[in-house]
Amino acid sequence: MTQQKQGLVQSIAGPAVIAKGMYGAKMYDIVRVGKERLVGEIIRLDGDTAFVQVYEDTGGLTVGEPVQTTGLPLSVELGPGMLNGIYDGIQRPLDKIREASGDFIARGIEVSSLNRTQKWDFTPSVNVGDEVGGSSILGTVPEFSFTHKILTPPDKSGKIRSIVPAGQYTIDDTIAELEDGTKLRLAHYWPVRAARPVARKLDPSLPFLTGMRILDVLFPLVMGGAAAIPGPFGSGKTVTQQSVAKYGNADIVVYVGCGERGNEMTDVLVEFPELEDPKTGGPLMHRTILIANTSNMPVAAREASVYTGITLAEYFRDQGYSVSLMADSTSRWAEALREISSRLEEMPAEEGYPPYLGAKLAAFYERAGAVNTLAGETGAVSVIGAVSPAGGDMSEPVTQATLRITGAFWRLDAGLARRRHFPAINWNGSYSLFTPILDKWYRANVGPDFPELRQRITSLLQQEAALQEVVQLVGPDALQDNERLIIETGRMLRQDFLQQNGFDPVDASASMPKNYGLMKMFLKFYDEADAGLKNGLTIDEIIQNPVIEKLARARYTPENEFEAYGNGVMDELDQTFKAVKA
Ligand SMILES: Nc1ncnc2c1ncn2[C@@H]1O[C@H](COP(=O)(O)OP(=O)(O)OP(=O)(O)O)[C@@H](O)[C@H]1O
Ligand SMILES: [Mg+2]
Repeated sequence: MTQQKQGLVQSIAGPAVIAKGMYGAKMYDIVRVGKERLVGEIIRLDGDTAFVQVYEDTGGLTVGEPVQTTGLPLSVELGPGMLNGIYDGIQRPLDKIREASGDFIARGIEVSSLNRTQKWDFTPSVNVGDEVGGSSILGTVPEFSFTHKILTPPDKSGKIRSIVPAGQYTIDDTIAELEDGTKLRLAHYWPVRAARPVARKLDPSLPFLTGMRILDVLFPLVMGGAAAIPGPFGSGKTVTQQSVAKYGNADIVVYVGCGERGNEMTDVLVEFPELEDPKTGGPLMHRTILIANTSNMPVAAREASVYTGITLAEYFRDQGYSVSLMADSTSRWAEALREISSRLEEMPAEEGYPPYLGAKLAAFYERAGAVNTLAGETGAVSVIGAVSPAGGDMSEPVTQATLRITGAFWRLDAGLARRRHFPAINWNGSYSLFTPILDKWYRANVGPDFPELRQRITSLLQQEAALQEVVQLVGPDALQDNERLIIETGRMLRQDFLQQNGFDPVDASASMPKNYGLMKMFLKFYDEADAGLKNGLTIDEIIQNPVIEKLARARYTPENEFEAYGNGVMDELDQTFKAVKA
């Protein structure tokens, strides 16, 4: 144990405490503040003066009380027992805090992040004499239907001197020992502000499929990439993130909720445990960890929560899994940063945020990535952060800083949400820098002409938008028949292709083969109808054709019936506009 250093409280401003006489303390040390031993973290040092953000309510704390450093950084404990867990921003289980303190979260209480008495069924996969490096797999433990791989801590390596036989162990039992005497358990600690080391980051090449058509087709995310969802109040940030949590191709979900209004986080705490896992039919929580910051929790815990969340995500990545991390909303997180900074009387930059806002956001998002782990496994953390710019003003600092770091920008639109066009993602205001990287994968795995079809769909939507402006100015009568066909096709693409009902069991998620089938159908409709016009059909005959109704129903066709349904519609499109003219 590091020698404990002691200083004294000099001033208190909400969550910010200044302590003097902190000789020997280090940046990011965890300190115990006051007689109640509140948990805090040193976020600035100036000689022997420490600026401390306190993770608990500082009411009642007085000047002159002792401040003691632990010499250790803010860390999480990583091992079995986290899935299905609900934690605060510094990995304290919410139910345990409540048990220990009643409804109002008491201060200075010490609760364990993981269950210390539960026994886990451990099956070793190493033998005496094996050399292990950092993040090596020592064995496995089943946790719900997930296989939890037990890792060596990233900074430990050596030869296995002893390993326990298969059996039941708690997280405090020694399960292996290295030649140098290091004892290994089912769990280990890692500091949240330090990225867990990897052998190398991989160039992105695979998509992180979300099941949401507009994203997977038009604005894809790479496996290990970072995306931002900016959107005003009520535009669908939370529903979008929950849908991606449920249907996205990740093995593990980490959801960091930063609520402002009291009931906002309560909704998530009620809703999330009810979500069904489409992969198993069981609760999604069995492969999810929730980190909840309610508005009655101190802001400092909210500031720490995104780093806690990404450290948990990296731990599962190091087991060789794909992990998705949702942060909702990073604007609430940035407000915590702003509040602490202003309490410390730091010089504010834009809109009162500290000048290091961008650097702090980057320190979070840059930990996304597809990697080769130290032990040679392949894993990925994909990050999706919601941003809630006040009044929908995308030029505000948090949105701007976020879009500089993230590669995909899924812009939610209040107008679309009002018209109940869901997901309310604006196809003109969104983008993905990953599209060219992924084209190779899409050509090989979805369809050889996929990029061209996507380009045609984008172009039809743009042409429709331009024609709608003409209609606004001079009315629909000014349009030619072929222009009216573009308007009709655009309408169909918007309503029957881009829209997806997040609450419909079939429509909520779509595979890429289904999306590709739909793309071909809508484009064939346009091509055949356009040819029909040239051969003398009228636009009204086209718009009244019953095949349009079949196209509209296509997205509600279950995956296993879709191919047959699609073939039927394609055959009908081959004939129908020729038949009328004959
Ligand atoms: N994909 C969707 N399918 C169907 N309905 C949706 C979809 N997305 C959003 N909605 C509707 O919009 C409502 C608001 O969505 P949501 O709560 O996700 O917005 P938000 O942006 O998170 O809002 P806030 O700013 O309050 O956090 C939902 O309750 C739902 O009715
Ligand atoms: Mg929300």
